[in-house]
Amino acid sequence: MEKLRVMSVFGTRPEAIKMAPLVKELASREDIQSICCVTAQHREMLDSVLEVFALKPDWDLDIMTPRQTLSTITSKCLTGMDGAIEALKPDMILVHGDTSTTFAGALSAFYHKVPVGHVEAGLRTYDKYSPYPEEMNRKLVTAIADLYFCPTENNRENLRREGVTEGVFVTGNTVIDALRTTVRKDYTFTTKELNELPYDSKKIVLVTCHRRENYGQPMEEIMSALADIARTHSDVELVYPVHLSPVVQEVAHRHLDRIPNVHLIAPLAADEMHNLMARCYLVMTDSGGLQEEAPALGKPVLVLRRETERPEAVAAGTVKLAGVKQKDITAMARELLTDGNAYAAMAHAVNPYGDGQACRRIADAILWHFGRGEKPSDFRT
Ligand code: UD1
Ligand code: UDP
Repeated sequence: MEKLRVMSVFGTRPEAIKMAPLVKELASREDIQSICCVTAQHREMLDSVLEVFALKPDWDLDIMTPRQTLSTITSKCLTGMDGAIEALKPDMILVHGDTSTTFAGALSAFYHKVPVGHVEAGLRTYDKYSPYPEEMNRKLVTAIADLYFCPTENNRENLRREGVTEGVFVTGNTVIDALRTTVRKDYTFTTKELNELPYDSKKIVLVTCHRRENYGQPMEEIMSALADIARTHSDVELVYPVHLSPVVQEVAHRHLDRIPNVHLIAPLAADEMHNLMARCYLVMTDSGGLQEEAPALGKPVLVLRRETERPEAVAAGTVKLAGVKQKDITAMARELLTDGNAYAAMAHAVNPYGDGQACRRIADAILWHFGRGEKPSDFRT
């Protein structure tokens, strides 16, 4: 029997981190030819992930430009995908999550009548503009997809409410599979500054912030809050690997340069980031991925957003929504930095997002869909 040609399409850092273990799992299956197509919506940040996970793409659309718009990303991906699909002739295309690459990848697959598997399906805020444009991207991909790989039962329930019940699997999130390969107790950082941090004598606060809906006033308030926190807590070292978006770079450096206990550093390789997270005191972020990783590592998270599509860790008590107002963010951080009981109540490891077996379940589900294996059992917490 011919091998199934399964093509994974991704373009940004988080998609790459979450798809890398799946590309490898697919490649390990006798019945599957694993094909990797990158749009390079992110260039440097994608290449860093490809290096950490030793992945070599079969096709690279190389679309990134500085200050790219949503329209240019989508149109360049669509045009580029035509060539990739015609040349590589996949039997199924996998897309991940909710980026512009995800949407364009799925739409292109549909234009070529190739079935689509949506990895990390069923996340919702029900606010069209927050996160923007991700909430719309994932809803549009839901309409196109044939198979849905939901991280949690709650995600499946969201799809069920929208009438999507066929081809739905609860697999856990592949990010937990990735974390299991990167985090090690004896890890030594290659970034010199990270080896020199006073992990035992100071509180390391790990920060990231990049979302488009936070551009403007919300990001100004977030950065002011971070400056306040650093200035008023001398026992804190705030470590912030700044996203390469010029919008983010400008606002972060304007507010946080020249504060001695703030370390604005270049984006970290995924293994460096995961091991820093494992050793930090607190995470403050508007990232989706960090909200999933930190709970698995027992680190409290303050989410720098008004909502989240990841309520599972909020329910488990390890993540809190801090919002985007300077006053609220500062107050919530102060509580966790000064009140040991409040901190202890949030600092316990929970794994609502997976057990490290998501990629195995997804590969099994694909083979089952094509009549070549058993249906996998669902991930349960
Ligand atoms: C994108 C995704 C967002 C995801 C985020 C993860 C969309 C619309 N947004 O947002 O869902 O959470 O990635 O980080 O798909 N840049 C570089 N080098 C890089 C990466 C980015 O220079 O390696 C700069 C470029 O100037 C680029 C800009 O960052 O134009 C913004 O990148 P873009 O992919 O458009 O948006 P993100 O905010 O990264
Ligand atoms: N990450 C990384 N280096 C960094 C910042 C983040 O490797 O400097 C990782 C992080 O651990 C997570 C993913 O990138 O796995 C999250 O990506 P991002 O925050 O860019 O996007 P989001 O998850 O919000 O879509």
